Amino acid sequence: MPSRLLIAPSILSADFARLGELIREAEQNGADWLHIDVMDGHFVPNLTMGPVVVEACKRASRLYLDVHLMVENPELHIEAFAAAGAGGLTIHVEAGPNLHRTLQVIRGLGCKAGVAINPGTPAEAVQPVLGIVDLVLLMTVNPGHSGQSFLPEVLDKVRRIRAWLDAAGSVTHVQVDGGIGAETAPLARAAGADVFVAGNALFKHPQGLAAGMAALHAALAEQRSDSTA
Ligand code: DX5
Ligand code: ZN
Repeated sequence: MPSRLLIAPSILSADFARLGELIREAEQNGADWLHIDVMDGHFVPNLTMGPVVVEACKRASRLYLDVHLMVENPELHIEAFAAAGAGGLTIHVEAGPNLHRTLQVIRGLGCKAGVAINPGTPAEAVQPVLGIVDLVLLMTVNPGHSGQSFLPEVLDKVRRIRAWLDAAGSVTHVQVDGGIGAETAPLARAAGADVFVAGNALFKHPQGLAAGMAALHAALAEQRSDSTA
């Protein structure tokens, strides 16, 4: 599995009037990636951001831009997101019939390719594409909104997908997204996740973003020392 744990703040929970400032603050407080949630009002019942926001994030920091496409027909949009500066593009198994082809196109554009599954989708749905992805995203809430509660039943899928990747000697990332914070990140880490997306736990932390980042780092560091004890 990948050697380092990564924290990816989800800007969906940020105050958009202060976006550039908050992105730089996240970077200064140890964010590894920036997670950008794209929603089209069809695949999920919410509308969020498009390539113009990715382009603005690119100008605001040097962080790797991890773009999560919760859209129908993602193949129609990937070129625009790649041109806007996305480092990686993650598409959902449930979003259409062209999963394999679209993942190939993403890599062809020079981006990392990710595949995502919703809580109600079995782990087996990603098996045919494990060899051509850089990241598997397991939704730990139903996609659509920040601030929902973590679904612990997804942990079993995290364990199984990590085991398949390890058996293949793969360094593909296993990412968890939804309801991740200092209490839940260690559970996901123990199950085999290595990339932690967090929105509300960071941008809506009662003591501010820096305190949220510190709490998440500390929770994951404790987990690391537990597992080596
Ligand atoms: C949910 C999004 C998540 C969300 C995470 O549909 O994909 O990335 O912003 O927010 P929290 O951490 O608040 O659940
Ligand atoms: Zn997301």
